[in-house]
Amino acid sequence: MRNTSLSTTNANTASSTEEAATSRFVRACLRQPVDRTPVWLLRQAGRYMPEYMAVRKHHTLLEICRTPEIASEVTITAAERLGVDAAIIFADLLLPFTPMGVDFEFLAGEGPVVHAPIRTSEQVQALRTDRTDELRYVAQAIERVAKHFSAPRPDGDQLGIIGFCGAPFTLASYMIEGGSSRNYIETKRMMYSDRVAWPLLMEKLVKVLVAYAAQQVEAGADVIQVFDSWAGALGVSDYRQYCLQPTTELIRRIQALGVPVIYFGVDTASLLSTMRQTGADVIGLDWRVPLAEGWKAIGEGCGVQGNLDPITLFAPEDVLRERVREVLDAAAGRPGHIFNLGHGIVPGTPVENVIRTVEWVKEFGVR
Ligand code: CP3
Repeated sequence: MRNTSLSTTNANTASSTEEAATSRFVRACLRQPVDRTPVWLLRQAGRYMPEYMAVRKHHTLLEICRTPEIASEVTITAAERLGVDAAIIFADLLLPFTPMGVDFEFLAGEGPVVHAPIRTSEQVQALRTDRTDELRYVAQAIERVAKHFSAPRPDGDQLGIIGFCGAPFTLASYMIEGGSSRNYIETKRMMYSDRVAWPLLMEKLVKVLVAYAAQQVEAGADVIQVFDSWAGALGVSDYRQYCLQPTTELIRRIQALGVPVIYFGVDTASLLSTMRQTGADVIGLDWRVPLAEGWKAIGEGCGVQGNLDPITLFAPEDVLRERVREVLDAAAGRPGHIFNLGHGIVPGTPVENVIRTVEWVKEFGVR
């Protein structure tokens, strides 16, 4: 963990970090007061950005992820170009599949493809949980990013470093479906019908993800974001019965490493109060739910990240500006708001609108 503490300040909030952080992003994750709302953006280093595409021309996505020199460079470039308050390590949700023994690749236009999807108890039993060391390249990339951002920025703020992993349900859905899915039929089939395989799969994923997150924290990640991108495919009863316990376990064990956890999902309006029960420090909202309503459903004592519709970035300047202001107005300067999008930036997004959005948050988000 990086030393983000100021020995002269005391933190008095209930948090996993003992002293006040010098990063407004980390402070907001802990619901401590900040000078202005911190901002970063989901998929801030992605295909909309010419600098990323220039690197992508020479390397596959997996090569970038597995080469610390390149992954760190891509992470740093995006954060600096946009002027955001946090850098999310360039990696992918599916990287832990390889040491578990699940082969996959990214096919152009199709996204991730798992060639032999996990559908039986025997396959779940065969998944390895003892090779997480093979993921060290992500921690090595984080070390480089942390070193690069070790000095405070000109405004005195320390840039936050975000590590991440998938949540058990979302990762299981890729393993079982073999890729992206519309109806999650095979995932739900296993969930409903195999009382041995499903809990075992959840347990194995949690074990691997905790070890992976620990490597990232040790390397310098200040915060871990847990992506449950497809949790919105679940009704509340199914989420409670099949996913709440393993997700809570994952989040609790990451927090025990000494960092706050942001828990994010898409299409989660009906799940928010249940997601809160995981004990996450911050809940990431998708754009469909008005921020104030989402925060109300989550309740007091928990931060909120979000939640501008990423497609608003294609809107004319006046509309975009209004929507940025709307998100900040809905948060009303309450401690614990981190400005972000409600899902990742899509390819084709005008870079200048992304940069403007960050500038407006800095302008309108002063406390
Ligand atoms: O800047 C950042 O946000 C960090 C980079 C990042 C990537 N993947 C790189 C990437 C992050 C945080 C992820 C997480 C991830 N990966 C998620 C959760 C976030 C979300 O969107 O909900 C998911 C679901 C995945 C799995 C995944 N990876 C899919 C479904 C795809 C294909 C989607 C597409 O747009 O084609 C990927 C590929 C991927 N991961 C890209 C990037 C920049 C784009 C493909 C490329 O560069 O070739």
